[in-house]
Amino acid sequence: CALISASASVSAGPILDDIAKSGELRVCFDAGYMPFEMKSKNGSYVGFDIDLGKMMARQMGVKYVPVNTAWDGIIPTLLTGKCHMINAGMTINAQRNMRVNFADPYIVIGQSILLNPKLEGKVTSYKDLNNGQYTVVTKLGTTGEQATKRMLSKAKLNVFETQADAALEVANGKADALIYDMPFNAIYAAQNKGKVVHLEQPFTYEPLGWAIAQGDSDMLNFLNNFLRQIKGDGTYDRIYDKWFKD
Ligand code: ARG
Repeated sequence: CALISASASVSAGPILDDIAKSGELRVCFDAGYMPFEMKSKNGSYVGFDIDLGKMMARQMGVKYVPVNTAWDGIIPTLLTGKCHMINAGMTINAQRNMRVNFADPYIVIGQSILLNPKLEGKVTSYKDLNNGQYTVVTKLGTTGEQATKRMLSKAKLNVFETQADAALEVANGKADALIYDMPFNAIYAAQNKGKVVHLEQPFTYEPLGWAIAQGDSDMLNFLNNFLRQIKGDGTYDRIYDKWFKD
């Protein structure tokens, strides 16, 4: 009967459809961003985003496929279909939201400052760094770069491909400060005691969200319902504590 075959062929939005048909959830991220996504010694990817992505794939009944991508090209990589979503600590902002859809925020963070120890006591907020005598570093294409250009316009700025290279500049005294996401800075400071000082009070407001191609409300609906469920049933807290509590 025409009615039944018509309804049987009705499918989900294109993203969920592709996930179901391929049996894979392909997730874009950029490893090296602690504690969200890191490459472990044995070459596998670990971190908060990775665990959330694996949980998502498990609930979908498909395989989790990691797609490690350079940050600078991560939105184009999504939009050419190499992954189904970005799960990479991406800050939801208007500029990016013109190009992608975001699910509801899964965590809120902000920019903080990793300082060379010689400036301890002298620099106590981002305002003190807004001065031509200081060299500030951050990662290419991030909200750290945007915030530095907007709020520290007088400081000299050097951008690096990786957050590790940028942080090293501060630790070895070639730069005065790193402006970057607070969770990364907190872990870096704990791992490099004496080489950097963390001014941990965030000075921007940054909700992080999962990004997908525009125009797919079915996938967005899945992501928001998944997030509400794991926040309510304790799964989110368990994964959060694993990566954010020491
Ligand atoms: N939250 C910052 C931004 O959206 C930095 C995220 C960097 N993420 C990464 N996986 N390297 O620009």
